[in-house]
Amino acid sequence: MSLVKVAHLLSAHEMEADLDGAIVGRQIIVLNRVGSTNDALLEIAMPNFKEGLVLFAEHQTSGRGQRGNRWESAAGKGLWFSVLLRPRIELNKSSRLTTWATEAIAGAIRSEFPLEPTIKLPNDVQVHGRKIAGVLVEMRAQEKAGHLAIVGIGINVNHAIEDFSIELRDRAISLAIALDRQIDRQRFAVTVLRDLNRLYTEMFGVSI
Ligand code: BTN
Repeated sequence: MSLVKVAHLLSAHEMEADLDGAIVGRQIIVLNRVGSTNDALLEIAMPNFKEGLVLFAEHQTSGRGQRGNRWESAAGKGLWFSVLLRPRIELNKSSRLTTWATEAIAGAIRSEFPLEPTIKLPNDVQVHGRKIAGVLVEMRAQEKAGHLAIVGIGINVNHAIEDFSIELRDRAISLAIALDRQIDRQRFAVTVLRDLNRLYTEMFGVSI
């Protein structure tokens, strides 16, 4: 599908302006199409890169989920992004980042919409018992700087049921399906990034 036909593409510039002063989202990149945002972010991450860089893609051709699963990423329908962080935690504590991200996503959904999301451990956010978002955390040891963490987040936003593969249709849901209306992805992306930022400073003791 050509993204030229997709209205309301995400704007990195507008999101950065809305998040002025935040760590998570201090720099934002929006790409049209990548294999996986986690891989794309890892490729550009330099040893001295500051944490908080966020990379979105309108379309992923090889989105990855937990346990080697494929992650479906219908073009322009969801929020597919990865956050680069340097949390002061050991490599074996990466589940704290999964908890951070799932709680922030659930909180953003709860604050923005009349929905009651639940967290299904370890890494799913559900609405009406169906998966609406997932988190994939990958860490790389660093000798000098803090360990590098790439936190990949996928949120189903404007999918119709036909946008999911047949095998996912009875297990997945989008915000649009749950609310029976289209959602402003840009606005919701800013809400999620704000909640991620607030909770990051609370849970990981970083001062802005
Ligand atoms: C899961 O629930 O299994 C985790 C899904 C994580 C999907 C996101 S989409 C953005 C980022 N890039 C990827 O390749 N995966 C994560």
